[in-house]
Amino acid sequence: MATNAQIVEESQKYLIENYGRLELAMVRGTGVYIWDADGNEYLDFFAGFGGGGVCGHCHPAIVEAVKNQAEQLLSHGNLFTNAPQVELARRITENAFGGKVFFCHSGAEANEAALKLVRLAAGEGKYKIISFRNCFHGRTMGSLSLTPENFQKGFEPMLPGNVMVDYGDLSTVENAIDDETAGVFVEPIQGEGGMNVPTVDFMRGLRKLCTDRGVLLVCDEVWTAPARTGKWFAYQHYGIEPDVMTLAKAIGGGLPVGACVASPEYADVLKPGTHGCTVGGNPLCAAAGAATMKLIEDEGLVERATVKGDEIVSTLRDANIACIEDIRGSGLMIGLQLDENAKVAKDVMTTCRNRGLLVCVAKNNVLRLAPPLITPDDELRRGVEMLLEALVS
Ligand SMILES: Cc1ncc(COP(=O)(O)O)c(C=O)c1O
Repeated sequence: MATNAQIVEESQKYLIENYGRLELAMVRGTGVYIWDADGNEYLDFFAGFGGGGVCGHCHPAIVEAVKNQAEQLLSHGNLFTNAPQVELARRITENAFGGKVFFCHSGAEANEAALKLVRLAAGEGKYKIISFRNCFHGRTMGSLSLTPENFQKGFEPMLPGNVMVDYGDLSTVENAIDDETAGVFVEPIQGEGGMNVPTVDFMRGLRKLCTDRGVLLVCDEVWTAPARTGKWFAYQHYGIEPDVMTLAKAIGGGLPVGACVASPEYADVLKPGTHGCTVGGNPLCAAAGAATMKLIEDEGLVERATVKGDEIVSTLRDANIACIEDIRGSGLMIGLQLDENAKVAKDVMTTCRNRGLLVCVAKNNVLRLAPPLITPDDELRRGVEMLLEALVS
């Protein structure tokens, strides 16, 4: 079998170098474990950047659903529908705010669909979108237009009229809304931007402001759902409902699924011919998504995220590690703000990886943990111990 070095060398000939990849090739995964081509084993506390994250790698129920579906039908055009996409949409909407779903493959595409829906719903002359500093909504031109300037460099001009305001500061949103504003995009907890959790008052105020000013509220739940934060969807922590919600990453159980969910009021805004995605909602990926949602329900993973997240946070707090300035997040979406004079989060990530634990970083020297929600207690304990050792080494 090819080694890490052999696969990486070949990859450099054929793959565009847009990722700054590590010199590792992954070959196998099960539950919270993943193995590279040299046979090294890793505890994956950041499974697939959230992409394989909720039920871990190759969960047997998801693999079985994919195998069964693969023997029946992989794909068909969207003039037809299929039972797996209907089941996935039902499971999403029943656990959210009703409404209807458009399927695609990624978070950026889900946000593109949401952008178009918002503009159509808002009506002629309303095109401006408000987003928040430290947000991340994707890399396509529309979603990039909502994302901070450092990601936009070299790709300007962006979509016109977008305004970026302070996360958590309602008055800046209020001042930014004008007669041409169509929508506000918000992550109910910012992931890439540093695991920032807004207050209940801010999110409720935002909902009210959008309603009062006739502006659509879009919650980007690409990182926060399903179940990761201890609710099916993170907006549910605040006792509000958005008009539109976008999903991707974990919703596909490891296969590419993106979704734009419109509330009942906006469910019929996108009419035939207004938007599309050739293999979006294909039965193979939808079967993986439906199996993931079923597992979350059957295994009580929403509740488990809260219980295990609280346990990890109290272990980390009790350890009293000097370089940890703050611990934040919700459920099993946890961020450790490190004192940059004492520890560089990227160095801790590398130490962890060299010792067999995968974690990640976010903006502002934050270390990020997002273990699969199915991770057994022993592995959760072992991963946290490895992390603590890395933090003091
Ligand atoms: C909140 C959020 N929205 C959108 C995206 C883009 O998702 P994708 O990489 O699937 O396009 C990301 C990716 O990290 C994200 O964190």
